[in-house]
Amino acid sequence: MGEVVRVRGIEMSYDDSGGDGAAVVLLHGFPFDRSMWREQAEALKDSYRVIAPDLRGHGRTTATGGAATMEEMADDVAALLDELNIGRAVVGGLSMGGYVALAFCREYAGRVAALVLADTRPQPDTEEARRGREKMVQLALGEGMAPIADAMLPKMLAPATLAGNPELVARVREMILNTNPEGAAAALRGMAARRDQTDLLPQLGVPALVLVGAEDSVTPPANAQAMHELMPGSRLVRIEGAGHASNLENAAEFNRALREFLDGLGD
Ligand code: MLT
Repeated sequence: MGEVVRVRGIEMSYDDSGGDGAAVVLLHGFPFDRSMWREQAEALKDSYRVIAPDLRGHGRTTATGGAATMEEMADDVAALLDELNIGRAVVGGLSMGGYVALAFCREYAGRVAALVLADTRPQPDTEEARRGREKMVQLALGEGMAPIADAMLPKMLAPATLAGNPELVARVREMILNTNPEGAAAALRGMAARRDQTDLLPQLGVPALVLVGAEDSVTPPANAQAMHELMPGSRLVRIEGAGHASNLENAAEFNRALREFLDGLGD
């Protein structure tokens, strides 16, 4: 069911595993929702307080018009943490969630205990990518999320997932279909407008984990390797048998790497 809080003029939905463990905030990708982190929350909740919000315009969180920038989404997350009386947290994000995590790091460096970047990149969109986003905006607003799901699924999931895991394919499709087209359009515009965060990586100074599906064709392993090299002391883990949705496609490996990283933070 989840919880709802009113922050910054929107109703924000989130899951909170509770407990008195260190807070871990997990930010979903586009056009997904907080339910993508179900397996991670389950795997971590004995030791950590896992908080997974629906980002602006996704899941049950209010959609706003225009562009939902990565900074705005990061501000929403900060406001949620304020409401929960959480000062510092481990902040993790997959893909768009990673863009938001980086925007959060830039604005709220003192609140980040450690960073997890999964299947994401620090670079902004190319001009070509921006044009592609605007086409997707028109598609979402004109025809709804079904053509978006059709266009995105084959790129997001590894061939083995597409061929051999129909339940997961159906789950991901369902998440996409449940996304509010206006929310998706605003996020697409926000992603198209996002700034370059590459310069931030060497300055972060917090423990960082980079995860990437070995078959991620959206943000490929070479990209993850480059991010890892820009963050001194960071750890890089390839998730075998997974594409862009690595936490879903190989939850066991993803959880193992995440758990090991989090458990190591206390040392
Ligand atoms: C995501 O998974 O969040 C999106 O693929 C990110 C993007 O479109 O850049």
